[in-house]
Amino acid sequence: MPSSRLFQLSAKDRELALRSIKIILDGQSPSGAYVASPNFPSYQYSWLRDGAYCARAMDSVGNTDSASKFHRWVEGALLKQKSSAESLIVSLNNGEVPEMDEMLPTRYTLDGALEKFGEVEDFPWPNYQLDGYGIWLYELGSHHRNLGTTDFNSDVVDLVARYLSATWETKCFDCWEEIGDGHHASTLAAISAGLKSAGTLLGEVKYIRKSEEVRDFLLANFVRDGRFCKGLLDDRVDSSLLCIALPFEIVPLDNPIFTRTVAAIRSDLLGDTGGIYRYLGDTYYGGGEWILLTSWLGWHDRLTNNQYGFENAKEWVVNQATETLDLPEQSTKGVQESTMIQPWVERWGSVASPLLWSHAMYLLMIQEGAN
Ligand code: BGC
Repeated sequence: MPSSRLFQLSAKDRELALRSIKIILDGQSPSGAYVASPNFPSYQYSWLRDGAYCARAMDSVGNTDSASKFHRWVEGALLKQKSSAESLIVSLNNGEVPEMDEMLPTRYTLDGALEKFGEVEDFPWPNYQLDGYGIWLYELGSHHRNLGTTDFNSDVVDLVARYLSATWETKCFDCWEEIGDGHHASTLAAISAGLKSAGTLLGEVKYIRKSEEVRDFLLANFVRDGRFCKGLLDDRVDSSLLCIALPFEIVPLDNPIFTRTVAAIRSDLLGDTGGIYRYLGDTYYGGGEWILLTSWLGWHDRLTNNQYGFENAKEWVVNQATETLDLPEQSTKGVQESTMIQPWVERWGSVASPLLWSHAMYLLMIQEGAN
């Protein structure tokens, strides 16, 4: 992190920032992939979604080589899927809808291969989630724009843009890997942002136009009571809706539909201990308060000059760090459904900790965009 920024942080934040950088760098495999969580058996993969935010966080603290390595790793992993992706695109363009398990996955092994069925669970774990591809294209664009470089793999960018153009209207799983029977606002925001980024990187107007089509569909169909909603068939608010403005800029931070969405997140999803839930009715490990989401709201609050919200988020997140300053995925102290903690502990062990994505969002909250 540029030392001037590090200097402005409180001692606690400085310590946690340095630890966060170390956890993300230690969690980066020599291949370039960021593991989701080094100690959690079910998270020994690299998710495009988590990884793209880790890369953004590394860029923000000046570790641009780490981000470059991740983006190169994604390009390599996706090149291996080129022939599957091409045949999926042909089928979709012919009006066929392939089975979800034939689609490109959301997570890869650290070597950039496909996960084998049964490796983690003996039941299929939803892997068809389009948001990761959009987020990756978006962050690849930000990375090269910030560095002023152009050495990205344009064939891969074009492949992913064609894949998203062909798939965006299909039903996929949401970013929480749970709901697969519909369309999701945060997924569409990621796809639109990714297509715009691909259009800019390649100078291809057709991807910009497609990005606008996806954005218009989102704006026309995912607003209820003047605020964004989680799904086409789901009126609830979801904290992941923050991505619509931050970072994807589908609408500006002061857009009234977005500001009402943030107000609904604060009123519906503020947990008992001061952290933020994913959505009401969440039962994963009891449905607790998430470190990365509280940080996301804090990041938003800092950028919108809500000092009170920013300080509260920072304080809550710092208090979730373990003795070794690891940030878990969620806190189970103020869960929505306490009877659902134990079944998950028996199935997968204690909550994932450290979670690289939690550390990435903390770093973005405390300093991204600050001078
Ligand atoms: C979350 C995903 C995340 C994955 C790995 C899942 O529990 O719902 O959003 O990508 O963990 O961190």
